[in-house]
Amino acid sequence: MTGREIREKYLKFFEERGHQILPSASLIPHNDPSILWTAAGMVPFKPFFTGQAVSEYKRVTTCQKCIRTPDIEVVGRTARHHTFFEMLGNFSFGDYFKEKAIPWAWEFVTEHLGLPKEKLWITIYLDDDEAFEIWHKVVGVPAERIVRMGKDTNFWEIGVGPCGPCSEIYVDLGEARGCGSPDCRVGCDCDRFLEIWNLVFIQFFRDEEGNYSPLKNKGIDTGMGLERVASVLQNVASNFDTDLFREIMDYTADLAGQKYGQNENIDLALKVIADHCRAVTFAVGDGALPGNEGRGYVIRRLLRRAVRFGRVLGVKEPFLYKVSQAVIQQMQTAYPELKQKAEHILRVISTEEERFLETLAAGSDILSALISEAKAAGASEISGDDAFKLYDTFGFPLELTQEIAGEQGLGVDVDGFAAAMEEQRKRARSARQETEYLSEKGVMYKALREELGENRFMGYGTLTTDSNVLALLKDGLQEISAEAGEEVEIILDVTPCYAESGGQVADIAVLRGKDVEVEITSVSRPVEGLIVHRGKVLSGVLKRHDAVKVEVAKVRRQDIARNHSATHLLHKALKEVLGEHVNQAGSLVEPDRLRFDFTHYAAVTPEELARIEALVNEAVLANLPIEVFETSLAKAKEMGAAALFGEKYGKQVRVVKMGEFSMELCGGTHLTSTAEVGLFKIVNETSVGAGLRRIEAVTGLGVLRHLAAKEAQLQEVAAVIKSPIHELVRRAEGLVQHNKALEQEIENLRNKLAKSEVQEILGQVQQIKGVPVLAAVVAAPDMDNLRGMVDMLRDKLGSGVILLGSAAGEKVNLVAAVTKDLLSRGLHAGNLVKEIAKVVGGGGGGRPDMAQAGGKEPAKLQEAITKVASVVEAQIK
Ligand code: ALA
Repeated sequence: MTGREIREKYLKFFEERGHQILPSASLIPHNDPSILWTAAGMVPFKPFFTGQAVSEYKRVTTCQKCIRTPDIEVVGRTARHHTFFEMLGNFSFGDYFKEKAIPWAWEFVTEHLGLPKEKLWITIYLDDDEAFEIWHKVVGVPAERIVRMGKDTNFWEIGVGPCGPCSEIYVDLGEARGCGSPDCRVGCDCDRFLEIWNLVFIQFFRDEEGNYSPLKNKGIDTGMGLERVASVLQNVASNFDTDLFREIMDYTADLAGQKYGQNENIDLALKVIADHCRAVTFAVGDGALPGNEGRGYVIRRLLRRAVRFGRVLGVKEPFLYKVSQAVIQQMQTAYPELKQKAEHILRVISTEEERFLETLAAGSDILSALISEAKAAGASEISGDDAFKLYDTFGFPLELTQEIAGEQGLGVDVDGFAAAMEEQRKRARSARQETEYLSEKGVMYKALREELGENRFMGYGTLTTDSNVLALLKDGLQEISAEAGEEVEIILDVTPCYAESGGQVADIAVLRGKDVEVEITSVSRPVEGLIVHRGKVLSGVLKRHDAVKVEVAKVRRQDIARNHSATHLLHKALKEVLGEHVNQAGSLVEPDRLRFDFTHYAAVTPEELARIEALVNEAVLANLPIEVFETSLAKAKEMGAAALFGEKYGKQVRVVKMGEFSMELCGGTHLTSTAEVGLFKIVNETSVGAGLRRIEAVTGLGVLRHLAAKEAQLQEVAAVIKSPIHELVRRAEGLVQHNKALEQEIENLRNKLAKSEVQEILGQVQQIKGVPVLAAVVAAPDMDNLRGMVDMLRDKLGSGVILLGSAAGEKVNLVAAVTKDLLSRGLHAGNLVKEIAKVVGGGGGGRPDMAQAGGKEPAKLQEAITKVASVVEAQIK
């Protein structure tokens, strides 16, 4: 009977006896902090036994995935120890009790599995006479094969919750399997008597302190180890020899070019790998991720042990994910969730595996050196400090160091290790207080990622996820809860939120849990593999481990996608129009605009811009399908995908392809067709440095907004000019011409005015030592005008000295001239104007015949002009 047949037979047997068949619950216990893993069939049903919740069905039967880890080290070395196993069980929630559970068990084992009655033994709890009576009187088991045992074996409990005395069915596998001791009997540690089924008579509740109180309703919880029963029915020496394991082990052996059953070490490795890989595959499928604490640590440890044993087989490449594939293949009918999560499971396993292989390579060398040193020094163990350094720097788990050192006959100073660990914790704590918070942040995020494992972005295909809160941070420190009004950083196991990267801004979102709502305002990835959400609790209390629903702001995301897809089209269009030298130098993709910087030596002309814009819009209107796929970097390059110069890419890259028009490596979120861009409009083109240009553009409704703004501007202009829009150009042209005519007219009038002023001023000439001197304040709007007046006066005078001053607002302009004939008499326009300018708080100078100056005190202009006579007089030789 194969494992699968046993499973089906069991469930059917109990279904026929009024039991509802339920699918296995998750390996991660729901709402039960008292245990790390679902370790028995009854775990998901605890509340039904206690009456905390009421089950829809009073009788249930399952085949439950279980993980138990206390015996990791002996897995593979014994016939029966596993980390992952399947438990068949039937349950009664306040319905039937011993009177039915015992006879049914007997019937199934003897009649349906066909085990010979004379080989079966029964154990019962010390004073459980009731069970004895049923086994003996009702079922007919001889009294001498019913053994009374103590609380250590025949009372069943797990964490906090329902529990009770139990009764077990054993199979005697024959003397040949035994230890040969005269005391060998049921309960002996050897392989002769094998427990296959445990019937628990649930009747107590155990609290945190270990107190027992009777339950109102009694119940039944039974557990039959599938692998064990299979080994009995398939008549093989160990669970590993059943079909459940052999398929996996044979696959692994093939993969490694090995054979099972020829070498003890190889067999051990095959067993360990099969066991651990089953556990990791199922656990990751249920949402566990490798990490440094709790469940994550168990996963990491199992995975790393399996990789280490892979080396025993001579496998140096990542291989576990392949074994995992075989596990999925074998188990997916019984556990359909494996098939659904296959991609995720394989990705998590291969990533962790690759990382560990790198670690292992680095750490193994160091450990070998340490081992040699220790041996040379005659030491019997590796120091705690060294073991800790391996752990801290190379991620070498203590157990691994112990194992490798153990193979060389050395121990490890475990207390020393613990002390070094504590020492480091203290250092980290005080460092956190001392150093500036920001510089510590990177370190903190790194540590968090190590602790929690990588979280996953699922937002390419969905905008909503059911997530779990893995950690909460306030001011950079982990907290267990955050209340309404508080700003928090939230780390989720999975998220639909895009973290800012590649120029694309982050999503905003709403996170909702039971009675709690959080507004997520930014999302970042401070270190690779860790996505951090920042936000504010709007109502309720958010707690670590909360199950929440995260919903990305949809319209905004779509607007961002529009601009991102348009950016790719623009990139391509720029190359087409300007040339292949154009390369992306930076970009910003926001919901309401996009910005694209690129290399180009000149300003892009309006004609080029128009062609670029047209080309992009043609691609938009062509409704090109946008495909996204992953491939190797080499393959992508071969296909001609545009990659950013200097950007780091992994071996696997994501390619975004838009019809035959554009193909780029990109991690951003995109549309499904270019048509969704709507329309593309360039709104600005500028220089942002030598050989660097920037284009800003809008898409979709952004274009409409842009047009609306332009139209409003036009309306405003029309209102100012008082013209209907359709006549605006003609009116504006008219205005400009009218303006020109007015300016000309003003100029003419000015000239006229100046001339008449000149006439007037000519009457003010004074004679100083025979030299005609003209000094006056005039009205001239600027220096040019003033100079013109001076020229005119000079012409009229023929011979003389002229100095004119005019006030222009807060300033004073002065211009001086000396006719050539007077230069020989020592007269100097430059010196003259310099002296005069001092009076009005200014300075200046110039040539002997013509000079100008400025001043700041118009109020003193008249005083300055009065001074001209004396200065001229002093100059005359
Ligand atoms: N809960 C019982 C066990 O795990 C049946 O053995």
